[in-house]
Amino acid sequence: MPGFVVSAGIFLLFAAGLWLAASGQAGPDPAKWLLHQSGLVALCLLLATISLASMRRAFSMPGLLRWRRALGISAFVVASAHVVVYVAFYQAFDITAITDDVVKRPYIMIGLACWLALLPLALTSTARARRAMGTRWYRLHRLVYFAIALAIAHQGMAQKADLAVTLFFVALFCALLAEKFLLRRGARASSTR
Ligand code: HEM
Repeated sequence: MPGFVVSAGIFLLFAAGLWLAASGQAGPDPAKWLLHQSGLVALCLLLATISLASMRRAFSMPGLLRWRRALGISAFVVASAHVVVYVAFYQAFDITAITDDVVKRPYIMIGLACWLALLPLALTSTARARRAMGTRWYRLHRLVYFAIALAIAHQGMAQKADLAVTLFFVALFCALLAEKFLLRRGARASSTR
């Protein structure tokens, strides 16, 4: 059920985005608009994915975790669409131009590193991979925190001027990390005392 609902939502989002871009309602540069919206949605989905565990603890709603896999995969799908927009509309599939850009502009390299960090998480997102990998699966999936840090750095460097959105992402990410690593550890220590 969560998989179906999230996939349907992402499909509608893609359809709406493409329709707005194709019908001239996405401003003078539809490719730029698609790149920006897809980047922001991917980052928000990643943050939403990690926030589920905190919300489950805060509101005692164990069922929330059933949404985590679907949200995480959607984040990867939207991030990949973002990369496809860049490769197709910004670089016209020119591998040399892409390589030059990755080398010349650090924020592009950081974006690439972020996507590469998400790739093994998407590839091992099946229940079968999770069973086969045991505790290694949990260790690998901690990479999501690294990927989010890279995505926020990439966003901050990409849009250069207005830092308000970046600061919002940094604050939200720090709050989620604090809840996970500090508050939970504190609660565990006091329960064993
Ligand atoms: C190979 C990988 C990637 C490339 C080449 C890439 C490229 C770009 C480019 C060219 C921009 C727009 C910069 C401008 O305004 O001129 C951008 C913005 C952005 N990207 Fe990426 N990106 C990559 C991966 C990612 C990933 C994996 C995420 C998130 C998970 C992401 C999230 C964002 C965000 C949030 C923005 C800023 C949007 C805004 O503030 O309006 N990017 N990216």
